Amino acid sequence: MSKRNYLVGIDVGTAEVRVGLGEPRPDGTVNIIGLGLSPSEGVRKGVIVDLDKTVDAIATAVEEAERMAGLKIDSAYVGLKGLNIELINNRGVVAVSSEDREIREEDIERVMQAARVVALTMDREIVDVIPREFIVDGFDGIRDPLGMLGVRLEVDALVVTSLITSLHNLLRCVNKAGINIRGLILQALANSEISLSPDEKDLGVFLVDIGAGTTEVSLFQHGKLQKMVVVPLGGDHITSDLAAGLRINHFKAEELKRLHGSALLTNRESEPKIEIKTVGSNELRLVSERELTGFIEPRVQEILQITREEMVKLGWPYLPPAGVVLRGGVSAMKGIVEVARLYFESNQVRLANFDVIGVQNPIYSTVIGLLYYAQCNQPRMFGAQKGKTARRQGPGLWQRLKDWMTDLVE
Ligand SMILES: Nc1ncnc2c1ncn2[C@@H]1O[C@H](COP(=O)(O)OP(=O)(O)OP(=O)(O)O)[C@@H](O)[C@H]1O
Ligand SMILES: [Mg+2]
Repeated sequence: MSKRNYLVGIDVGTAEVRVGLGEPRPDGTVNIIGLGLSPSEGVRKGVIVDLDKTVDAIATAVEEAERMAGLKIDSAYVGLKGLNIELINNRGVVAVSSEDREIREEDIERVMQAARVVALTMDREIVDVIPREFIVDGFDGIRDPLGMLGVRLEVDALVVTSLITSLHNLLRCVNKAGINIRGLILQALANSEISLSPDEKDLGVFLVDIGAGTTEVSLFQHGKLQKMVVVPLGGDHITSDLAAGLRINHFKAEELKRLHGSALLTNRESEPKIEIKTVGSNELRLVSERELTGFIEPRVQEILQITREEMVKLGWPYLPPAGVVLRGGVSAMKGIVEVARLYFESNQVRLANFDVIGVQNPIYSTVIGLLYYAQCNQPRMFGAQKGKTARRQGPGLWQRLKDWMTDLVE
């Protein structure tokens, strides 16, 4: 696999593990040549609760993608989403070191290092530091200051932190499935590559990813991720409500939800023609779509209500100019956009596009987003991270992960 520069992404979701394998194209897109999927029984609310089941799910999805592409996968980018991830805005400032005042790679490394200085509790670790913009002698909005002249170099950065235990469990599972980790990518960033237009990201938009166990609310403005919050609610809760309400098993509830569920209770009467068999009884009963929706709608409303409250807490009592883009499995539910428009008191709500050549199923949109993000940001992401932590603060996360993975293999 190493002969050509293939990219691999892994999304360990609450519902499924997905793997994508692609070949970067010169125009910045990725030619998808392998996809794999496996039910993810070891994950609850985005957090790994059973290592063995998760390792199996990853290995199965990886094998499927390998078979499709006819290649062996040895390393991958892994998506990060979950209650354990937090973002901190921070700034770093340094004086440009060279006599001729030209900004060199080492100045950029030093300023990124300065941005890492944040107060963290013992149970958290910095996963990544993402530069939003560089500022040279007070002039802001600079994407890459390398080679510019200046005296004072600043960076406005997003520091991504995670609870150490859940992060290590994720890395351990990927590693035990035989995959080396090339990097960790925030899923919000990966999803934005596929789901949002540059104009939306510029104007200001909320990307709301309603998955099986979690709902992630991320705000993009001025072309960058600004804020993010994750709520432990998703499609699994809708399924559980339906299962409890109709006294049917989880599997049947999931099937009914996907086939007949709707987020919007209309006044229209519907015929009771869906057959169900309640738990502990062999008798068939008929229910109507309206009856199903009666169990689904309150939970959808709760998810949207809490999402709205989180947006207000993030400082947005009104929606940003480009409104809200809904994505994730639950966004496939009938009527969700209409209900969301009511809750967000705006017509500026749409479903995420999924327009990737050769892939029909939006279930893979996060892994494909990981590949696109890696393709655009690969060199800086990892080039800047290595060495510096080891040099300045003793072994950092990456060094310790490497050591720890080596221990695992030995
Ligand atoms: N057509 C549909 N109607 C309603 N719900 C659906 C539909 N298709 C999928 N879902 C729900 O979407 C959820 C899965 O979404 P997704 O694949 O985005 O989750 P995930 O990435 O595995 O989880 P998470 O991001 O929370 O870790 C499940 O709860 C599933 O029932
Ligand atoms: Mg997801």
